[in-house]
Amino acid sequence: EQKCDLTGKWVNELGSNMTISKTDDKGHIFGSYFITVTANNGVEIKESPLSGIKDDSHQPIFGFLIKWTFSESITNFVGQCFVDKNGVERLETMWLLRTKADSSGANWEKTRVGSNLFHRLAIKK
Ligand code: BTN
Repeated sequence: EQKCDLTGKWVNELGSNMTISKTDDKGHIFGSYFITVTANNGVEIKESPLSGIKDDSHQPIFGFLIKWTFSESITNFVGQCFVDKNGVERLETMWLLRTKADSSGANWEKTRVGSNLFHRLAIKK
């Protein structure tokens, strides 16, 4: 059975690009995330760092966090990497996007939820 390696470049159905640049022997993962759509209109979109953790199975589960560098928001993703019979990998994820509330009265409306499917952008060397 082929093992899914999270390292590399990924793209999702929103056109967001994610690079996982490093994984260590304890399962920590590090990388960067570049988006094309935002909940904040008119902000300059920059690359944001991500870090998380994965397990050491052939189709690993993982979770990672992104503190967006251009907005007062944090997203957490959880998901799993699946490999099909042709060896094609995909990341099936769900996320929560938390945006800053000015006061506790606005807390109720500040968390979004969704899902993203990622495919490998470039063939890993
Ligand atoms: C913000 O809008 O405040 C930060 C950018 C959030 C982008 C979200 S995170 C979940 C979803 N998946 C993506 O690739 N982009 C959006």
